[in-house]
Amino acid sequence: MRNIPDSVLRLSIVVVAIAVSFVTIRFFVLPASLTDMDAHKARATEHEAAREIRFAGSAICADCHVEEPGKIVQGYHSLLSCETCHGPAQAHVEDLDIKPTAPRRREFCPVCHTYDRSRPTGFPQINPVAHNPLEPCIQCHDPHDPKPPETPRECSACHAEIARTKAISHHVGLECTTCHVAPDEHRVTPRTNRATKPAGRQFCGTCHGEDSENKGALKVDLATHGGRYQCWQCHYPHLPEES
Ligand code: HEC
Ligand code: HEC
Ligand code: HEC
Ligand code: HEC
Ligand code: HEC
Ligand code: HEC
Ligand code: HEC
Ligand code: HEC
Repeated sequence: MRNIPDSVLRLSIVVVAIAVSFVTIRFFVLPASLTDMDAHKARATEHEAAREIRFAGSAICADCHVEEPGKIVQGYHSLLSCETCHGPAQAHVEDLDIKPTAPRRREFCPVCHTYDRSRPTGFPQINPVAHNPLEPCIQCHDPHDPKPPETPRECSACHAEIARTKAISHHVGLECTTCHVAPDEHRVTPRTNRATKPAGRQFCGTCHGEDSENKGALKVDLATHGGRYQCWQCHYPHLPEES
């Protein structure tokens, strides 16, 4: 004992005293209600279960609403829950006089659609400052089926150079569709829905052949003029030259 310094002895007494008081308090002083773990768990569960339920989930909406759930399943917003946009709606389900809000304001949609580099490639994004400013998004996009609206456009909206060229040519009086068949979808998704081009010499011959009834067009002998080449190998069809 002599070898152990006083300071260590005093410290050990303190440690032992703390340990003894912990055991005494934990097992002999505290009431069982405070130390019973099962009772704790039961009460925590009860407490959580007693919280007000605010979200009803999307499934129940379809019990009464037919149109919106029917639309949303096949569209781009199929993965969004109704209450993401309409807010907690349990109160509405229990009391139909309480109406959920509908986010009609322009400020709402950019929460997800504002341009942000960190979003995955291909996620549809816009710059809200430049994208059709001042008008509510839902004026052009159905929130339950938000396809970008189809924009049927003039041929010249995309083929401006050709249109300008034709405008000063002998062919100014001919519509683009006199020589091309362009499906409506070509104006929206042009590369997957191609327009046709004239197939051969006979096509130009419908106006320029010697037996053609077209009065304004100069005639050539299809059998000899230009040999075996396509007419447009020598004449640019959008700007056939002056004679
Ligand atoms: C028990 C039937 C019922 C259920 C379930 C229900 N609704 Fe409704 N909801 C109604 C009725 C009825 C109206 C009122 C229609 C009216 O006023 O024309 C309504 C109106 C609405 C409106 C329009 C509020 C407005 O301003 O016009 C929204 C949005 C709505 N419900 C969303 C939801 C959502 C989201 C759910 C699912 C969480 C849901 N509802 C579940 C019956 C229901
Ligand atoms: C991307 C957000 C969004 C989602 C998701 C969404 N809604 Fe809507 N909802 C809206 C907006 C915005 C309006 C207001 C449309 C308007 O005024 O033209 C609306 C309107 C409604 C209305 C009222 C229609 C009316 O004529 O007043 C009902 C009912 C409704 N939604 C139900 C639903 C249900 C049910 C779901 C889930 C299947 C759902 N919505 C999902 C944004 C959303
Ligand atoms: C909670 C996030 C969220 C909100 C809020 C939201 N959207 Fe969307 N939106 C999406 C997702 C997810 C897609 C599908 C993306 C995909 O398919 O890659 C989508 C797709 C779209 C598309 C399709 C674009 C395309 O590629 O053709 C349009 C348009 C659109 N949303 C408009 C709206 C409008 C208008 C609102 C407001 C009423 C709105 N969104 C609110 C998440 C959201
Ligand atoms: C005046 C009509 C109009 C309004 C208002 C409008 N949009 Fe659009 N939106 C369009 C058209 C047209 C397109 C397709 C052509 C294009 O990309 O400009 C489009 C395309 C989109 C796309 C797809 C972009 C892509 O690259 O795939 C998203 C997302 C979108 N809009 C969201 C919104 C949101 C969010 C708002 C409101 C802040 C909004 N739009 C307001 C007409 C509109
Ligand atoms: C939305 C823009 C857009 C509009 C509107 C449009 N086009 Fe096109 N068009 C294109 C694009 C893009 C191509 C493909 C160019 C490429 O692949 O090199 C194309 C290709 C063509 C081609 C060549 C096809 C081929 O196989 O070489 C013809 C012919 C054509 N368009 C005619 C028309 C006519 C006629 C109209 C009006 C009825 C029209 N386009 C409207 C964008 C458009
Ligand atoms: C007189 C008939 C005729 C008219 C009118 C005409 N095209 Fe063409 N177009 C052709 C022919 C023929 C070709 C094929 C040229 C080639 O293969 O070298 C062609 C080719 C094209 C191409 C493919 C790219 C190119 O320059 O070769 C586009 C795009 C096109 N036309 C668009 C238009 C548009 C847009 C208009 C209206 C502004 C128009 N065309 C009017 C006959 C015509
Ligand atoms: C090998 C080149 C070549 C080909 C292929 C060709 N042309 Fe020509 N074309 C010419 C030349 C060069 C002239 C001007 C000289 C002349 O009057 O003979 C001309 C003149 C014309 C004229 C004006 C005639 C006049 O009396 O002033 C018309 C119309 C014409 N071509 C239509 C066509 C048509 C339609 C085809 C297809 C069936 C065609 N060309 C094929 C080279 C060609
Ligand atoms: C629908 C009838 C029509 C078709 C199809 C047509 N043209 Fe023409 N073309 C005309 C008319 C009309 C003129 C004369 C316009 C004028 O004098 O201002 C003309 C003028 C021309 C000229 C100039 C002749 C001159 O006065 O110097 C040439 C070259 C020509 N076309 C070539 C073609 C070629 C090549 C094709 C086929 C790709 C073609 N045309 C298809 C109606 C047609």
